[in-house]
Amino acid sequence: MSTKDLLNQDKMPKHIAIIMDGNGRWAKQQGKLRTFGHASGVTAVKDVTEGAAELGVEVLTLYAFSTENWNRPKFEIDALMSLLVQTISKETETLMKNNIRLATIGDTNSLPSGVKEKLEKAIAKTAGNSRMTLVLALSYSSRWEITKAVREIANEVKEGKIDVDAINENTISSHLTTSEWPDPELMIRTSGETRISNYLLWQLAYAELYFTTKLWPDFRKEDLYEAIYNYQNRERRFGMISEQVK
Ligand code: IPE
Ligand code: IPE
Ligand code: MG
Repeated sequence: MSTKDLLNQDKMPKHIAIIMDGNGRWAKQQGKLRTFGHASGVTAVKDVTEGAAELGVEVLTLYAFSTENWNRPKFEIDALMSLLVQTISKETETLMKNNIRLATIGDTNSLPSGVKEKLEKAIAKTAGNSRMTLVLALSYSSRWEITKAVREIANEVKEGKIDVDAINENTISSHLTTSEWPDPELMIRTSGETRISNYLLWQLAYAELYFTTKLWPDFRKEDLYEAIYNYQNRERRFGMISEQVK
């Protein structure tokens, strides 16, 4: 039996965010280059994307490259960028077939022009797909995103478009790069690290966090089901007491 059969369709998270971590260690364990781990991680991306769509998840956000990852050795950055180009070119047809829309969050202007072009093409091509949105966080960090939002809001105040006293949580949410999607209910991080690494700090305010020691290239649909099963068996109290949410 698969854990999938134990899942409650009425309690399915609408938005799942994942920190795909452990590619380098996975490769090292096999005496291979870190970049081999990244290439192998693509299989996990495909399997988990398909699995999430089959479950009826509306948004899947994957942390693919952080602002801080620009500090890695150039060789590794270059390999990640070309892997990105290759994968997008190869997989756009699968996205079309599975009715999945591609989107990105992050400072995509900082990406090499070849990557940016391929991304824009795939985003435009899949724009009408409606089954699930696959969001790639690329050159993304939460502090970058919040700083950008604050700058935009400050400008709108300066231009008289909004009143300082009218600024509320919605003002902030609507200036984040994730404004069109609900906040993730579940955040999964692989590889055993138990930190957020500058990911969706505002949006994860009330998310359930799930950490697994599995390294990303080994993560599959079945592991996604387990994470969701774990999530569905938690009591989400949102500050209230147990009796109130039962
Ligand atoms: C995650 O795997 C992929 C990216 C950050 C691009 P890592 O490359 O961080 O792998 P580890 O954590 O070093 O094993
Ligand atoms: C977070 O993983 C970024 C991505 C998965 C893209 P890292 O491996 O870069 O994070 P740290 O360095 O462990 O915090
Ligand atoms: Mg890592």
